[in-house]
Amino acid sequence: MRLLTKSNAQFKKAITKLPLGVSSNFRYWGEDKTLYIKKGKGGRLWDIDGNEYVDYRLAFGPVILGYADTRVDDAVREGIKIGGVFGLATELEYEVANRVSRMVPAAELIRFSNSGTEAVMAALRIARAYTGKDGHIILEGSYHGLFNEVMWYAEIEDWDPKKGDPEILPEGDGIPKIIKKLVHTTPLNDANAIEDLFKKKKDQIGAFLMEPIMGNACSIAATKQYMTDIRKLCDQYNILLIIDEVKTGFRVARGGAQELYGVKADICTFAKAIANGYPISVVAGREEIMRQFGKGVAHGGTWTAHSVALSAASKTLEILEETDALKNIEQYGLKLQDGISSILNSRSIAHSYSGHPSMMGLFFSEKPPSDYRGWIDADQSFYDLLAEELHEIGIIIEPDSREPWFICEAHDEKCLQETLEKFEQAVDITLRK
Ligand SMILES: Cc1ncc(COP(=O)(O)O)c(C=O)c1O
Repeated sequence: MRLLTKSNAQFKKAITKLPLGVSSNFRYWGEDKTLYIKKGKGGRLWDIDGNEYVDYRLAFGPVILGYADTRVDDAVREGIKIGGVFGLATELEYEVANRVSRMVPAAELIRFSNSGTEAVMAALRIARAYTGKDGHIILEGSYHGLFNEVMWYAEIEDWDPKKGDPEILPEGDGIPKIIKKLVHTTPLNDANAIEDLFKKKKDQIGAFLMEPIMGNACSIAATKQYMTDIRKLCDQYNILLIIDEVKTGFRVARGGAQELYGVKADICTFAKAIANGYPISVVAGREEIMRQFGKGVAHGGTWTAHSVALSAASKTLEILEETDALKNIEQYGLKLQDGISSILNSRSIAHSYSGHPSMMGLFFSEKPPSDYRGWIDADQSFYDLLAEELHEIGIIIEPDSREPWFICEAHDEKCLQETLEKFEQAVDITLRK
């Protein structure tokens, strides 16, 4: 059994200064389970008690090459020498913007920000300005960051399908109720549902904000047909398609989910994998839309295009564009799925995967659901118990089964073998519970 003596003591200290003892609600795993990390290297983490883990959370996705990647960190050291931020522009911004455009054809023009939340806020703002319509649609089960316009969820746990669509509720306190008027939700993979909504509300809705692979709903994925349909419908009803690639961007393909699906967004957002864990994000899109920044639409920020984050992005994107890193990540994901499947099949445990091998959802059901309503119907109890056991023996996945397993380039054969051995042990312990 792993010891968490130092993490538990740190929690007791930290709670006196930090709500929940952490700096993000999602990092709190309970009084005796919250982890404090000493360091990360490659595909592994060490907590302050010295427990070692193969990590498949990877900070919710940004770590695409591996923790403390020397290629990126050397570039960052050069970035420090530039001097940080100046409240003025640098040459590096153009260089990185150019590479993003080359990798993602929809990204005709680009603006940098610091977090996914900021990029999506900017995307919605510019969509409202361009269309003159304040409303927007999000998918049921989606997550687009912590700001008022997207912190609304479709309540499906106590929902009675006979009574119509689920109720839309704020995700916690402090969100102005008045904003609800702007927000509409729709289930993934139902083109008829969205067409009905477009027909009814096309004069109020400026944008459909969506992820083709729902990175916060177990990587439940859109079908190719759905993506083709919504692209056409958005054009037909004069509604902008915003594809949020904060999780999928520079991960599922060099050109993100848009390349995978062969669909071009009007506006798209990127953050996590762009700089291997350094804080930077991108809002990008069609030139005609993006030119409004500076012509009536505000955008900026003190830390925007910081020389450290830009240097990290420049090197990370160079590696992703010019090497086989993403192919290798995908191969690892496929081998992991094969290994997991043979363990589960030999015990007759029904299971399936969703999303992409680089950010896969694991379901204990014959087929993955096609939308979030289906996730609620699936039994998650085996997953929840299994996750706890995996933590105990040195494999980190997110305890909430809505979060996919993320793979990085540094996950090597040794990580794979260790993961499969431990997965088998954890399954057997879970079965005995
Ligand atoms: C799809 C998506 N959009 C936006 C965000 C918000 O990004 P950040 O946490 O960097 O603000 C996230 C974060 O997980 C995300 O997954």
